[in-house]
Amino acid sequence: MRILAIESSCDETAAAVLEDGTRVLSNVVASQLDVHAKYGGVVPELASREHLRAISPVVREALANAGELKWKDLDAVAATSGPGLAGALLVGLTYAKGISFAAGLPLIAAHHIEGHIQAVMLEGRQRGTPVELPALALVVSGGHTHLYEVSEAGYRLLGKTRDDAAGEAFDKVAKLLGFGYPGGPVIDRLAPYGNPEAVRFTSARMKGNALDFSFSGMKTAVLRWVESRGIAEEIEARKKMARVRRPSVEEWVAVTPQATLDLVASFQHAVIGELLGHAAAAAAQMEDVRSIVITGGVACNSGLRAAAGPQWAGLPVYFPSPGLSTDNAVMIAAAAWEKFRRGEFAELSVRVEPGLALA
Ligand code: KG4
Ligand code: ZN
Repeated sequence: MRILAIESSCDETAAAVLEDGTRVLSNVVASQLDVHAKYGGVVPELASREHLRAISPVVREALANAGELKWKDLDAVAATSGPGLAGALLVGLTYAKGISFAAGLPLIAAHHIEGHIQAVMLEGRQRGTPVELPALALVVSGGHTHLYEVSEAGYRLLGKTRDDAAGEAFDKVAKLLGFGYPGGPVIDRLAPYGNPEAVRFTSARMKGNALDFSFSGMKTAVLRWVESRGIAEEIEARKKMARVRRPSVEEWVAVTPQATLDLVASFQHAVIGELLGHAAAAAAQMEDVRSIVITGGVACNSGLRAAAGPQWAGLPVYFPSPGLSTDNAVMIAAAAWEKFRRGEFAELSVRVEPGLALA
């Protein structure tokens, strides 16, 4: 059973072929980072245009790498239908519809967040140690900070961000400090150079659902810190560097005073504290929970990986391998595999849903 899956919800054009829900035959990701980097964030119109440019070669490469596959060697074609940028989603989903129609393959509309979660389940099957359900899933990416209960019955939303997503907070703070885009990886690499206890961040008091997140206060705290220090020149110098190329961590450290490195380390430490604090509280609320899954682009963060350890709140913690943490099509194939098993196919009339909720 082979699924060709396409992902185009944000700024990566990706295609992959998955066999029998476990074997990855190919995994191709074309990143648009360089296109968006100079604007300090993803520009939706440019993303759509780049997806259009990349989609055919990326799909062709995925089929070739999987062993020169032809349409007749496939059993289904899948694409992300949401959530994501409307124009970006449209490119991948429309392309998949074209394949479905032309090759007579069943079409599967996959959910991007289910993909992030199923990437971890897929790797559990590959290791021969499936992630035990019910699981608590923490999905942390540029667009999402969500807590779900994952069971055989499906997904249940336990908490989510009220403002910025965790990855967005990393990106905005990095931009504010002149480290360019995307900020998560830069902050991750710089954090070990600073003192994580130097600057205190207060965690937001949530009215209503205590499992909801809020990161806008931390972002504002960083802004106030910057303003109170009068370090505009230092930031401007780094911005200039980030505009022309992506500097190495050593180059960044060379142009960043210790106080700023301490701020970066403290910010990352505070975000990790929020994420893992909420994860522990959510797990405690679940009647039965066997494991914790942490996934999405921010799951690449080495500080988060180290802090969550192999065990958190007395439960085994599973991360995707770094390559499957950020957006890719293997995760979409894994989500599509679940839908295939459930017999959930889409009509050619299916639409993209930029705000599609998982639960
Ligand atoms: O899952 P993803 O590729 O796309 C979305 O679905 O949003 O996540 C991208 C996000 C960006 O905000 C990026 O800064 C963040 O993940 N990210 C990281 C790291 N690597 C990527 N954040 C913190 N530490 C990292 N190492
Ligand atoms: Zn994602």
